Order: sequence, then C-alpha cells, then structure tokens
Amino acid sequence: MEDISLHILDVAENSVAAGATLITIALRVDTVQDLLELDIEDNGRGIPPELLGQVLNPFYTTRSTRKVGMGLSLLAQSAREADGDISVRSALGKGTRISVHFRHSHIDRKPMGNLADTFSVLIAGNPAVDFVITCTRNGEEFLFDTREIRTELEDVPLNAPDVIAAVRDHLSTSLADMK
Ligand SMILES: Nc1ncnc2c1ncn2[C@@H]1O[C@H](COP(=O)(O)OP(=O)(O)OP(=O)(O)O)[C@@H](O)[C@H]1O
Ligand SMILES: [Mg+2]
Repeated sequence: MEDISLHILDVAENSVAAGATLITIALRVDTVQDLLELDIEDNGRGIPPELLGQVLNPFYTTRSTRKVGMGLSLLAQSAREADGDISVRSALGKGTRISVHFRHSHIDRKPMGNLADTFSVLIAGNPAVDFVITCTRNGEEFLFDTREIRTELEDVPLNAPDVIAAVRDHLSTSLADMK
C-alpha cells in the first residue's frame, strides 16, 4: 500500500462490506509526541471471534480459497515498519474498531496521500452510509459529518455531482496541512 489514505480507503471499504451505516474515521497527528494515530470504527456486523485472531495474518489461507485478505495485514505491516502497531477490536452484531499508530517522523512511515480524494470517494461511492471524519493536527481539529450535510441538503442526494465537487474542494482546502 502506497500511503495512509489508501489504507483508510481499504479499512473503510471493509466497514461498508460489513453493512455499516455509520463509519467514524479519526486521524490525529501530534508532532510533539511524534505520533500519527488512526481509528476507524463502524457499526457493521463485526468479525466472528474465530476469525479475529487471523485477520492480521496474510498467510492464513491461499489466495484462491482465502477467507482472509490482505488489507489489514498490509496496514499492520505499514505500522510496524514505522515503529507502530495495530489493534482490532470487534463485537459481533455491534461493530469493529481498528486502531493503528505510527511514529510520525519515522523514515519508513507512509506518506499521508490524498485524504480529500479518499474521503470524497468514500462519500460518493456509499451515499447510504454516514461518515464522521475528524482530523487533528497538534490540537487543531477539523470535523466533517455527513449527517450535518444531509440536513442542510434536504432533498439533494449526498452524491450529486456538484455536492461531491464542493465536498472535495472543502476537504482539500481544510486538510492541506494534514501531513
Ligand atoms: N470492519 C469489519 N467488519 C467486519 N469484518 C471485517 C471488518 N474488517 C475486516 N473484516 C473481516 O476481516 C477480513 C480481512 O479483511 P482484509 O481487509 O484484511 O481483507 P479483505 O477485505 O478480505 O481483502 P482485501 O482487503 O485484500 O481486498 C475480511 O474479509 C472480513 O471478513
Ligand atoms: Mg479489505
């Protein structure tokens, strides 16, 4: 995986696949503690306990018959390469939370990538899902909540082309320093 934003896309797509209707993405950079933290939480169906121990292991099955894919294990690898780690908590029928951290200044820490593109692709591609996105850099917080946008839009769908273009512009401006 090339960058953090693509990891976010992958983890959030897992949430969508698990039937989530609300996905909360919290990204936090603290250059004093030298930390980059990412939490993605959903209200999807959860991971069965017998699978939970395997989701970080890419070699659990062969690819053709696999039960478990590559997404989370690649994220775990990216974290560990940058002096970080990952934890996966899940409750069946309730939801899943993926927490991962990296040492921000680590030479092998993946670059942030294009967060505005990732978030707008997620929103445009999953108009029935709500996203609550928080990005914090050294205490300065940016919040984006599709539930609020929906209220403002009234009858206009969230994935109307001009809405998505405006969302992308807004995110791109607001997240320019999120590195
Ligand atoms: N948020 C989630 N809710 C429920 N199950 C999940 C969630 N995230 C992961 N899983 C389970 O863990 C498995 C492994 O996820 P992972 O992203 O590593 O691979 P994948 O999505 O199956 O394949 P790939 O990401 O390579 O396309 C998923 O197939 C799914 O069964
Ligand atoms: Mg996946």
